[in-house]
Amino acid sequence: MPAWPVNDQQAALEILSARSSYARMLLDAIEGGQWQSDQVNAHILRRLQALNEISLQPQLERIWGTGSSMAPEKLEVIGSLEKRFAQAPLWAYDLEEGRKHFQLLCQSCHGLEDDNLALGPRLSGSGSLGVGYFLEAIMDPNAVVGRQYQMTQLVTQDGKHLTGLLKEKGETAWVLQTIEGMVKVPLDQILSQETSSQSLMPVGLLDGLDDREKIELLKFLVSL
Ligand code: HEC
Repeated sequence: MPAWPVNDQQAALEILSARSSYARMLLDAIEGGQWQSDQVNAHILRRLQALNEISLQPQLERIWGTGSSMAPEKLEVIGSLEKRFAQAPLWAYDLEEGRKHFQLLCQSCHGLEDDNLALGPRLSGSGSLGVGYFLEAIMDPNAVVGRQYQMTQLVTQDGKHLTGLLKEKGETAWVLQTIEGMVKVPLDQILSQETSSQSLMPVGLLDGLDDREKIELLKFLVSL
């Protein structure tokens, strides 16, 4: 499965999350180790939850924890933005403006080029997943966080708090990728270490955009 192109994986997951009986196969496969839970993004998780199948709940919670369901008010915002986007005369919205919003809000973590240093997954090719996919990720970054994207917090002897992705656990030093860049911390400097299930992706990313700018950003995202 990991070798499939991202769009095929997504198509398979759409089908597997469409019915309780398929969903059970998917969850069994994840628990059996044939699938990685981090291939399931927030959109699919929302579909699994929307099946509203009580017998699936224990598995959903074992795999993603209890915090994985999306708050109703967030679902409402997503629904209304999806609707506004669907009704907007898109020709009247400037793609280049959308790109600028992306550069400002997203690009520091989501490079568009193949970039090992990117803090978040590459979004190129994700445009076809649709507005809903992006809105779910933006509105609720903590719904599903891939294991490789779980954030680590280090506190050093001299009281510094560092947050980022743990890239390397060497014998003498650890390397943490932070928003400012790679930081190498000698082991004897590390006072404590904690891995969080919170995403590095901030909440409230759309808050600074007005209605027009939100549509411009979404227009750019679905063009990726
Ligand atoms: C500070 C870093 C950061 C910023 C800024 C950021 N993201 Fe993210 N993003 C991440 C990380 C890390 C992940 C992977 C873990 C997760 O899903 O939370 C992620 C995940 C995602 C995903 C889900 C990818 C998947 O695996 O399905 C989407 C979509 C996304 N981001 C879109 C955006 C958009 C759009 C913006 C700007 C409006 C943005 N992000 C801003 C760090 C960031």
